[in-house]
Amino acid sequence: PISVIADVDTGVDDALALLFLAAHPDIDLRAVTCVAGNASLSQVTQNTLDVLAAAGSEAPVAAGADRPLIEQARDAGSYHGANGVGNLLLDASQRTAEPVHAVELLRREIEASAHPVTLLSLAPMTNIALFLRLYPKVAAQLERIVVMGGTAGIGNASAVAEFNVWHDPEAAQIVLSSDVQTTLYPLDVFNRVVASEGQIRELRDAACRRTRLAAELLDYQLTLADLPADIASGAKLGDAGAAVFLVAPELFGVETWPVDVELSHGFCRGQTVVDRRLRGGEAEEHDLMTPTVRSDVALTVDGDAAASVFV
Ligand code: BDR
Ligand code: CA
Repeated sequence: PISVIADVDTGVDDALALLFLAAHPDIDLRAVTCVAGNASLSQVTQNTLDVLAAAGSEAPVAAGADRPLIEQARDAGSYHGANGVGNLLLDASQRTAEPVHAVELLRREIEASAHPVTLLSLAPMTNIALFLRLYPKVAAQLERIVVMGGTAGIGNASAVAEFNVWHDPEAAQIVLSSDVQTTLYPLDVFNRVVASEGQIRELRDAACRRTRLAAELLDYQLTLADLPADIASGAKLGDAGAAVFLVAPELFGVETWPVDVELSHGFCRGQTVVDRRLRGGEAEEHDLMTPTVRSDVALTVDGDAAASVFV
């Protein structure tokens, strides 16, 4: 199995991702770290423990950063519901979070793992940026970082920026420009992995605690009505699609390009500029982009097949 640590801001779709990661036989979910994003850090941590309890996972959980590196936290309650998980009432977990910061849990688990760990980032990248700066040698042991974040086209938090990058652009830039190999899972694919109403029914009818919770979360996603124009109906898997990517990469088209994050404080702040020019700029000496490192970027997906893998 693939050794995975997930960094989350649970989050309806983070919850779907955790249910999948805990259940999949090819995944060894070793730990989960929490960061402020969709909801406050304390709410995210409680949601994460509760979802893992429903998933039957005992993976250790730690709370990390309660705000971005530079700016104040801005939650997404209007989208994910006031409690971050579509206002569903989850059964309370019997467990509590580890008494260490998320960065320390990352260090501990990566050092202890017999196999190189894949870090799956499903949230603003504050914890991961802090970890890379504090423990670069431990970070060098990672297999790679798979980042749900960014967009090569249209944004969601703003016209051009995706929420996880927009919430902490400096952290995203630290991650994308690090020496660790990164794979971006941007909105271009995030928006296209969609479960049908029939698939949601299948999950609900399976009479199992975790599939029933998945169905309830997907019912919430159905109400959001935020699908790409060419997809008629269904519920977005969101972050859970990035978890599917780990086990079924053949369903995705991945290209390698320079990626840079816009850090100025204008209306493009948090945009991930994917430089897909086939040759250098026409005025290369004036080019302000600073990417020294290239990132793998998932740009296309067989959305139906990816949703089937999830179900
Ligand atoms: C990302 O932001 C959050 O709303 C979701 O959980 C996902 O990680 C999408 O932009
Ligand atoms: Ca998320």
